[in-house]
Amino acid sequence: MDRLLIQGGAVLRGELRASGAKNSALKMFAAALLADESVTISNVPHLRDITTMIELLVSLGVEVVIDEKMNIEIHANTIKSFKAPYELVKTMRASFNVLGPLLAHYGQAEVSLPGGCAIGPRPVDQHLRGLEALGAKIEMVDGYVNATTDGGLKGGHVYFDFSTVGGTEHIMMAACLADGVTVMENCAREPEIVDLADFLNKMGAKVEGAGTDTITITGVPSMHGCSHRVIADRVETGTYLIAAAATGGKIKIRDANPEHLEVVISKLREAGAKITIDGSTIELDMEGRRPKGVSLVTAPYPAFPTDLQAQIIALNSVAEGTSTIKETIFENRFMHVHEMNRMGAKIRLEGNNTTAIVDGVPHLTGAPVMANDLRASVSLVIAGLVAQGDTIVDRIYHIDRGYEQVEEKLQNLGANIRRVASE
Ligand code: UD1
Repeated sequence: MDRLLIQGGAVLRGELRASGAKNSALKMFAAALLADESVTISNVPHLRDITTMIELLVSLGVEVVIDEKMNIEIHANTIKSFKAPYELVKTMRASFNVLGPLLAHYGQAEVSLPGGCAIGPRPVDQHLRGLEALGAKIEMVDGYVNATTDGGLKGGHVYFDFSTVGGTEHIMMAACLADGVTVMENCAREPEIVDLADFLNKMGAKVEGAGTDTITITGVPSMHGCSHRVIADRVETGTYLIAAAATGGKIKIRDANPEHLEVVISKLREAGAKITIDGSTIELDMEGRRPKGVSLVTAPYPAFPTDLQAQIIALNSVAEGTSTIKETIFENRFMHVHEMNRMGAKIRLEGNNTTAIVDGVPHLTGAPVMANDLRASVSLVIAGLVAQGDTIVDRIYHIDRGYEQVEEKLQNLGANIRRVASE
């Protein structure tokens, strides 16, 4: 198993290009199952989660053609199986989203209950209730969801109990081929949902209102092929901006979507960063300053994303002053705090582990650390960058799930980081 070895102290400087959004691309791979013709998705990041999703499609008999630029062509009409096995779904929760498209297009699906990051219980009740509202018949058998329809899905009314990104996307996809109109209320509004809706509409679907809390889908009898370019990954962009700010650096990120990062940019300005935006380029300059700690609450988009919470805690740990970070999306998403404290950070958890109070210290000290979730792992890389001495981040297969060429990108910015095999 690989580890990352980081020699702390470098100030990040330079330019990089934002990768395509993993969380958009993954759902588009599932949505491709709705089409009768082939679809081509470009700007797909080269990541382990993407490979897992491709393996899943191939295991269903779907033909997937990848070129050297990661343009991915998916021919769903070669499908032979409707079963998504545990071995593939357990490693990545997004793969559960093939259930709705399979059911909508082929009237049957057998999909294992999901796994994914170890960040608290992550049920799928909202997904299943939504599909049932469209007429799906659902049975749980040996850890699998067996779903069928009685002559196809029918348009219906779906009200989500709370904001769910995966749930909103799942029902939005399934409703495209349902007979009649579906109205979904209390929907999540993340940019990846809008990107997915654009993709679905290019395939001939009639989706309106994505990006607001009410989405209306008028079912169509069939969907055709299309080409689509995935939006930039706002979490990846945010991660590099935070890393640069934590080190007192100056970086420029090209091909980004600054409008998807408004809150993050405003929090980084509060931390002392000078940020300039020019079209799709974001430039951050700390002018050599130590960051100031920023307090925030994670919440559904457009609020501060939970997927950048761990990274901002790494910044706060070496910032001036005391800050408070409240996590409202996931339970048990502060595992990185204990590792950062082992590196000399002063962070305590309160409110039944929902809030981290961070007293900034002048620097951290390198140590061997590990994390068991994607964003926590990358936050430990940031902690390693601002630590004195060497840090070894173990179990980096989590990082490889979501960050394309992480060490190459950081090396280009001047970080002393390299991948080493575990003994
Ligand atoms: C997606 C993102 C993830 C991000 C999260 C929140 C992907 C692949 N992943 O995850 O990176 O952190 O949005 O922005 O796009 N819940 C239920 N029942 C359900 C569905 C969700 O209780 O049926 C709970 C979850 O446990 C969680 C909260 O609702 O506490 C939000 O989850 P959700 O928005 O669905 O996140 P994901 O789609 O899994």
